[in-house]
Amino acid sequence: MTRKIIIDTDPGQDDAVAILLALASPDDIDVLGITAVAGNVPLPLTSKNARIVCELAGRTDVPVYAGCDAPLSRKLVTAEHVHGKTGLDGPVLPDPTMPLAPGHAVDFIIDTLRNQDPGSVTLCPLGPLTNIARALQQAPDIAGRVQEIVLMGGAYFEVGNITPAAEFNIYVDPEAAEIVFKSGIKLTVMPLDVTHRALVTPHRNDAFRALGHGVGHAVAEMTDFFERFDKEKYGSEGAPLHDPCVIAYLLRPDIFHGRFINVEIETGSDLTLGMTVADWWRVSGRTPNATFMNDVDADAFFDLLTERLARL
Ligand code: RIB
Ligand code: CA
Repeated sequence: MTRKIIIDTDPGQDDAVAILLALASPDDIDVLGITAVAGNVPLPLTSKNARIVCELAGRTDVPVYAGCDAPLSRKLVTAEHVHGKTGLDGPVLPDPTMPLAPGHAVDFIIDTLRNQDPGSVTLCPLGPLTNIARALQQAPDIAGRVQEIVLMGGAYFEVGNITPAAEFNIYVDPEAAEIVFKSGIKLTVMPLDVTHRALVTPHRNDAFRALGHGVGHAVAEMTDFFERFDKEKYGSEGAPLHDPCVIAYLLRPDIFHGRFINVEIETGSDLTLGMTVADWWRVSGRTPNATFMNDVDADAFFDLLTERLARL
């Protein structure tokens, strides 16, 4: 039974690997479309990069839509310092020839959820949650039609990566995150607490390179570029592959572990703006609303990723 999904994304090297993993798994995942959002780099680049990745995977059949170019109510914050000026620095990849699909990403999300059977489509946000929140604002009826949201974002024990308190995707648009976390939609969250356990060690990156084809080389070169920021900052032995955790969860939920708890978003304090306040010890009495992951079997994760990338 293939799972129908929409990937909402701000590529970003790790987004690119997540998209490749999904497109390499057509027997398990039916990517109905990819919606680009401003995040790591501005929208013109994220919507271009998403198409570059589809072409790299030989999947120009997948429609790519451009979405929101700024957060709901704040100035865009980008992360070129991590992802490079293009957002996909590392490999030299050709400009896309496939055009953007006509129409706005938010309308595509709404129309798809209204046209597909209720509860049959999973949303997979890999960047700031602006498109998803905008869709929920514009069409509140779709909340009851979403099968599940599996997103990369947030942090608790691992604390923030863009401020001391906040993870980038949530920090860029905390008001959007608040709408999503309060939507009542089934929510599975891949925070830094779990993604920082999925590190691309040199050995694992060599396995990508050893795939010996364009995709393997491109992923290894993306990682070579992307990892320098995290290795320098954390002294870690490789880059955390944040976004692919979302797609890997769809394929192998059993390799992830977490807790169903209450998670709320800080939107008022400048000091902790965008913090995901995860009630891990259930002390608040607030209603649980999200499965918040904090562990993954990293070897199983990379075996899955490498095996699937080999198929492209
Ligand atoms: O904090 C990590 C997240 O921010 C990842 O999704 C990465 O692509 C960036 O968007
Ligand atoms: Ca991302």
